Amino acid sequence: MDATSRILMVVSMGLLLLVAVFFISGLVKHIDSVGSVDSAKASSTNTAETAERIRPVGEVRSEDVTKPRPILSGKQIVGSVCIQCHGSGVLGAPKIGSHGLWAARVGQGYDVLLKHAEEGFKNMPARGGDPRLGNDDLKRAIAYMVGESGFSPPTGWRTVGMPSTGATEAKS
Ligand code: HEC
Repeated sequence: MDATSRILMVVSMGLLLLVAVFFISGLVKHIDSVGSVDSAKASSTNTAETAERIRPVGEVRSEDVTKPRPILSGKQIVGSVCIQCHGSGVLGAPKIGSHGLWAARVGQGYDVLLKHAEEGFKNMPARGGDPRLGNDDLKRAIAYMVGESGFSPPTGWRTVGMPSTGATEAKS
């Protein structure tokens, strides 16, 4: 081997070594970053993204039915409870606004209507399915529904049990 080839060999081996060192240190750095910051970030975004992706289409809102709630007007009670059936007339519920469908029922007398609302009647669940509703609440709700259907509820039913400040609202 002459001098030139020996120099060449030394230089190329040195270069090779340099490349190897660069490569290995680069690899180690890469593994380090993947193992720490990146993976933590990646997994947290994934969790959020996955939660979003698998989110159910509908959401169930549950209300604690044991907690007392503020006094609602007949319109509010009907709007949150009774409307579920009496709005569209499902299960044969007399529709709000239909004079004809309510006529025979009103003909039984308001006390019978109240009793049926309290205890339930055929497909009509007791208290519209909301046990928090007291009899005064039911009276206000019935008054609102029959009022909307063209009947005059018994005097006082629209506002019975309401705080006196709210007693002025006649039709709701
Ligand atoms: C789950 C459905 C449903 C809900 C909610 C509901 N009702 Fe009814 N209601 C019915 C059905 C069905 C009938 C008709 C029953 C029958 O005569 O077959 C009815 C009938 C009635 C009647 C007439 C009873 C009679 O003697 O003819 C009154 C009064 C009444 N509901 C009041 C209410 C009030 C007040 C609410 C809200 C607090 C309410 N309902 C909520 C289904 C419901």
